[in-house]
Amino acid sequence: MRIAMASDHGGFELKEALRTYLTNAGHEIIDLGTKDDASTDYPIYGQKCAEYVVGGGADKGIVLCGTGIGISIAANKVKGARCALCASETLAELAANHNDANLIALGGRTTSFDAAVRYVEKWLATPFDGGERHVRRVRMLTEM
Ligand code: RB5
Repeated sequence: MRIAMASDHGGFELKEALRTYLTNAGHEIIDLGTKDDASTDYPIYGQKCAEYVVGGGADKGIVLCGTGIGISIAANKVKGARCALCASETLAELAANHNDANLIALGGRTTSFDAAVRYVEKWLATPFDGGERHVRRVRMLTEM
């Protein structure tokens, strides 16, 4: 799968670790930055990754900041982005199954590497439910 990733400084370390993990797992990773742990602004990277995914450059996107909150807010400003901040496997599963989340956000300062791997794997492995009510709600989001 083609997966775009982006983070600010707060998510940088976890982004790097996840990038290596997902590359080794056979995914094609598009790293949209940031490239080091120097202080930067999460809105830049949330927007960049969401636009990349919505524009068709990648199948899905993963964005990271210190908490995942700021960068998820930024990503969701992009029309067509459905970015879910995931802090459990259940949230990751439902983000895919009910919301057809095309991006997830993770907190580099709040989520361990092992937990992040579990959330990402669950999200990637879970199909969208596809039922009429979920399709209708996702369409409503897209039209907002
Ligand atoms: C940066 O210090 C921090 O505010 C940012 O990474 C993120 O947690 C914001 O939501």
